[in-house]
Amino acid sequence: MGLAMSPTLEEKLLAFDGHLPLARARTIPSSWYFDEEIYALERERVFAGSWLLACRSDQVAEPGAFATIEMAGEPVLVVRGEDGVLRAFYNVCRHRAAQVINLPDGKATKLRCRYHGWTYDLAGRLRGVPEFDGVEDFCRDAQGLPPMAVAEKPPFVFVHQKMPALSLDDSLAPFFERTRDLGLDRLHFAGRKEYELGCNWKVFVDNFQDGGYHVNTVHPGLASALDYSKYRAENLGLSCLQSAPMVASDDAQVGKTRTGQAYYWWLFPNLMVNLYSGVMDTNLVLPLGPDRCRVIFDFYFPDVEGEEARRFIADSMAVAHQVQLEDMGVCEEVQRGLKSASYKTGRFSVKRETGGYYFHQLLAGRLRAE
Ligand code: FES
Repeated sequence: MGLAMSPTLEEKLLAFDGHLPLARARTIPSSWYFDEEIYALERERVFAGSWLLACRSDQVAEPGAFATIEMAGEPVLVVRGEDGVLRAFYNVCRHRAAQVINLPDGKATKLRCRYHGWTYDLAGRLRGVPEFDGVEDFCRDAQGLPPMAVAEKPPFVFVHQKMPALSLDDSLAPFFERTRDLGLDRLHFAGRKEYELGCNWKVFVDNFQDGGYHVNTVHPGLASALDYSKYRAENLGLSCLQSAPMVASDDAQVGKTRTGQAYYWWLFPNLMVNLYSGVMDTNLVLPLGPDRCRVIFDFYFPDVEGEEARRFIADSMAVAHQVQLEDMGVCEEVQRGLKSASYKTGRFSVKRETGGYYFHQLLAGRLRAE
């Protein structure tokens, strides 16, 4: 008996049928959560081919201010020039590919690579090249940092690695239109928490996109403040909005910080924005490989000054941290289960999981370049 042939990449991609109605649909195959070939294709078609949150406006407000991030293995630098123009570059030195800037954020008058000292100006042009006399066919003007597209929608800065077919505004129009009156640009950044998870980035998105299906079972504290009977999900272009009214809770921290209407936005592929009355946090999930990811939580509030505001912020961040600990446990467990020989695909709750199927449909469409 011979060994079974490995499926080709095309066969792997065709293993998911995104045209079925939700009642008959199956998830993407479990192998998509750990397959190196699928991960490489995601880097190219999903992450390099989408508008991605890169940093906050407050990090790059002044001339010379910069912020860096690694997006699915791609080092990115956002910097505001002396001319006030915001630019984004691959944060990769043209000499030996070191990261030109290896701080998360800061301020500089020039971009100096710490390895051998090549220096770029804030517009990405190569200016200083130590000890390079005598090198032939070397055109300094062609050795600038490769640019990428950048767009600012305070408090967010997005980048796109390729020439985007759609502007940021058009790409995420439902989100920007429906949050226009919420004054997100007037919120103040108050803190960040980072988590490293032993799961594929899509497991974290799946968990977010299950329409509240796991809220009662995994998040008893949050569930106590959420009117589950009115929880709903809408698929909107490259995004999905889940929402529910909040109710009074016996849990003091949850009851104080989770009020009004909950809006849970997912923006393709890897950004989640959670909104309550006077509270916003963003969850950015960044792949670290096929079966690891980093999740960055940034917290925003209308008021950040004074003792009362500080207590509210601490309570709100504590609630988010508790919810994240609860989510991390199930996400890492799911990743182990996805690798089991016994599991290939799963089904969706028609009542709850329209957003989860929608994510898989968008993802598969992008991977197949449809
Ligand atoms: Fe940057 Fe050598 S790698 S100067």
